[in-house]
Amino acid sequence: MEPSSTVDASPKEISRRQFMSAAIAAMGGLIGAALGLPAIAYIIGPALTKKTENWVRLGAVSKVETGTPTLFKTTVQRQTGWIADQQEIAVYVLTEDGQKYVAMSNICTHLGCRVRWIAEQERFFSPCHNGVFDKDGNVVSGPPPRPLDRFETKIEDGVLYIRTV
Ligand code: FES
Repeated sequence: MEPSSTVDASPKEISRRQFMSAAIAAMGGLIGAALGLPAIAYIIGPALTKKTENWVRLGAVSKVETGTPTLFKTTVQRQTGWIADQQEIAVYVLTEDGQKYVAMSNICTHLGCRVRWIAEQERFFSPCHNGVFDKDGNVVSGPPPRPLDRFETKIEDGVLYIRTV
Protein backbone atom coordinates (compact mmCIF):
# COMPACT_ATOMS: atom_id res chain seq x y z
CA MET A 1 0.00 0.00 0.00
CA GLU A 2 1.31 3.44 -0.98
CA PRO A 3 1.51 6.22 1.66
CA SER A 4 -1.01 8.95 1.07
CA SER A 5 1.66 11.67 0.95
CA THR A 6 5.36 11.73 0.34
CA VAL A 7 7.96 14.01 1.81
CA ASP A 8 10.27 15.65 -0.65
CA ALA A 9 13.72 14.90 0.76
CA SER A 10 15.64 16.66 -1.99
CA PRO A 11 17.07 20.11 -1.13
CA LYS A 12 15.13 23.01 -2.49
CA GLU A 13 16.93 24.69 -5.32
CA ILE A 14 17.20 28.44 -5.37
CA SER A 15 17.57 30.47 -8.47
CA ARG A 16 20.59 32.63 -9.25
CA ARG A 17 18.37 35.69 -8.85
CA GLN A 18 17.26 34.62 -5.36
CA PHE A 19 20.86 33.93 -4.36
CA MET A 20 22.03 37.33 -5.58
CA SER A 21 19.18 39.09 -3.77
CA ALA A 22 20.03 37.34 -0.53
CA ALA A 23 23.76 38.05 -0.95
CA ILE A 24 23.14 41.74 -1.64
CA ALA A 25 20.82 42.00 1.36
CA ALA A 26 23.42 40.33 3.59
CA MET A 27 26.18 42.64 2.35
CA GLY A 28 23.94 45.67 2.87
CA GLY A 29 23.29 44.53 6.41
CA LEU A 30 27.00 44.11 7.09
CA ILE A 31 27.83 47.53 5.66
CA GLY A 32 25.02 49.11 7.69
CA ALA A 33 26.30 47.48 10.87
CA ALA A 34 29.89 48.48 10.09
CA LEU A 35 28.87 52.12 9.68
CA GLY A 36 26.01 52.32 12.14
CA LEU A 37 27.44 50.71 15.25
CA PRO A 38 30.46 53.05 15.56
CA ALA A 39 28.16 56.02 14.94
CA ILE A 40 25.81 54.90 17.71
CA ALA A 41 28.74 54.25 20.03
CA TYR A 42 30.09 57.75 19.23
CA ILE A 43 26.76 59.38 20.06
CA ILE A 44 25.85 57.54 23.25
CA GLY A 45 29.37 56.73 24.45
CA PRO A 46 29.78 59.72 26.80
CA ALA A 47 26.48 58.97 28.46
CA LEU A 48 27.63 55.45 29.24
CA THR A 49 31.02 56.34 30.65
CA LYS A 50 31.28 55.85 34.34
CA LYS A 51 31.35 59.01 36.41
CA THR A 52 34.49 59.36 38.44
CA GLU A 53 35.02 61.27 41.61
CA ASN A 54 36.20 64.74 40.84
CA TRP A 55 38.29 66.22 43.64
CA VAL A 56 39.48 69.73 43.02
CA ARG A 57 42.53 71.14 44.77
CA LEU A 58 41.81 74.42 46.58
CA GLY A 59 45.12 75.06 48.30
CA ALA A 60 46.92 74.80 51.59
CA VAL A 61 44.54 74.22 54.48
CA SER A 62 46.75 76.48 56.61
CA LYS A 63 45.40 79.47 54.66
CA VAL A 64 41.96 79.07 56.25
CA GLU A 65 41.52 81.58 59.06
CA THR A 66 39.77 80.06 62.05
CA GLY A 67 36.28 81.50 62.47
CA THR A 68 36.33 83.49 59.22
CA PRO A 69 35.15 82.31 55.80
CA THR A 70 38.23 82.29 53.58
CA LEU A 71 37.89 82.62 49.82
CA PHE A 72 39.62 80.15 47.50
CA LYS A 73 39.51 80.39 43.73
CA THR A 74 40.34 77.63 41.33
CA THR A 75 39.64 76.38 37.83
CA VAL A 76 37.88 73.12 37.11
CA GLN A 77 37.64 71.12 33.92
CA ARG A 78 34.12 70.23 32.90
CA GLN A 79 33.18 67.53 30.43
CA THR A 80 29.61 67.56 29.16
CA GLY A 81 29.23 64.85 26.57
CA TRP A 82 31.86 65.73 23.98
CA ILE A 83 32.24 69.31 25.12
CA ALA A 84 35.10 70.13 27.48
CA ASP A 85 35.54 73.53 29.02
CA GLN A 86 37.10 75.28 31.97
CA GLN A 87 35.14 76.99 34.68
CA GLU A 88 36.39 79.24 37.43
CA ILE A 89 34.85 78.58 40.79
CA ALA A 90 35.19 80.38 44.08
CA VAL A 91 34.57 78.71 47.41
CA TYR A 92 34.41 80.07 50.94
CA VAL A 93 35.93 77.71 53.48
CA LEU A 94 35.06 77.97 57.15
CA THR A 95 36.50 76.18 60.15
CA GLU A 96 35.79 76.86 63.78
CA ASP A 97 38.20 74.34 65.25
CA GLY A 98 40.80 73.54 62.60
CA GLN A 99 39.40 70.01 62.38
CA LYS A 100 36.14 70.27 60.52
CA TYR A 101 35.97 72.34 57.32
CA VAL A 102 32.88 73.61 55.56
CA ALA A 103 33.21 74.64 51.90
CA MET A 104 30.45 76.88 50.55
CA SER A 105 29.79 78.05 47.02
CA ASN A 106 29.88 81.79 46.47
CA ILE A 107 26.92 81.51 44.09
CA CYS A 108 23.72 82.92 45.54
CA THR A 109 20.90 80.39 45.57
CA HIS A 110 18.41 82.98 44.32
CA LEU A 111 19.52 83.84 40.80
CA GLY A 112 23.20 83.06 40.86
CA CYS A 113 24.95 86.32 41.74
CA ARG A 114 28.26 86.02 43.55
CA VAL A 115 28.04 86.62 47.27
CA ARG A 116 30.72 88.49 49.22
CA TRP A 117 31.75 88.04 52.82
CA ILE A 118 31.64 91.30 54.78
CA ALA A 119 33.67 90.64 57.91
CA GLU A 120 32.47 93.69 59.87
CA GLN A 121 28.87 92.50 59.65
CA GLU A 122 29.67 88.78 59.75
CA ARG A 123 27.38 88.19 56.80
CA PHE A 124 27.50 87.15 53.16
CA PHE A 125 25.75 89.64 50.91
CA SER A 126 24.33 89.05 47.47
CA PRO A 127 24.42 92.35 45.61
CA CYS A 128 21.63 91.65 43.14
CA HIS A 129 18.53 91.51 45.34
CA ASN A 130 19.92 92.05 48.82
CA GLY A 131 20.10 88.43 49.81
CA VAL A 132 21.88 87.93 53.13
CA PHE A 133 23.46 84.75 54.53
CA ASP A 134 25.08 84.09 57.89
CA LYS A 135 28.58 82.71 58.41
CA ASP A 136 27.38 79.13 57.87
CA GLY A 137 25.62 80.04 54.66
CA ASN A 138 22.09 80.01 56.09
CA VAL A 139 19.62 82.54 54.69
CA VAL A 140 19.13 85.53 56.99
CA SER A 141 16.98 87.69 54.74
CA GLY A 142 16.03 88.38 51.15
CA PRO A 143 14.79 86.13 48.38
CA PRO A 144 17.30 83.25 48.39
CA PRO A 145 15.28 80.05 48.77
CA ARG A 146 17.95 77.95 50.50
CA PRO A 147 21.38 78.14 52.15
CA LEU A 148 24.57 78.42 50.11
CA ASP A 149 25.46 75.13 48.43
CA ARG A 150 28.19 73.12 50.11
CA PHE A 151 30.94 70.89 48.80
CA GLU A 152 32.29 67.75 50.39
CA THR A 153 35.86 68.36 51.60
CA LYS A 154 38.96 66.32 52.29
CA ILE A 155 42.48 67.13 53.38
CA GLU A 156 45.53 65.29 52.11
CA ASP A 157 49.07 66.26 53.05
CA GLY A 158 47.92 69.66 54.25
CA VAL A 159 46.02 70.40 51.03
CA LEU A 160 42.32 71.08 51.00
CA TYR A 161 40.17 69.53 48.27
CA ILE A 162 36.51 69.84 47.39
CA ARG A 163 34.44 67.35 45.51
CA THR A 164 32.57 68.60 42.49
CA VAL A 165 30.16 66.75 40.22
S1 FES B 1 20.79 86.62 43.21
FE1 FES B 1 21.19 86.79 45.33
S2 FES B 1 19.46 87.71 46.12
FE2 FES B 1 18.99 87.51 44.02
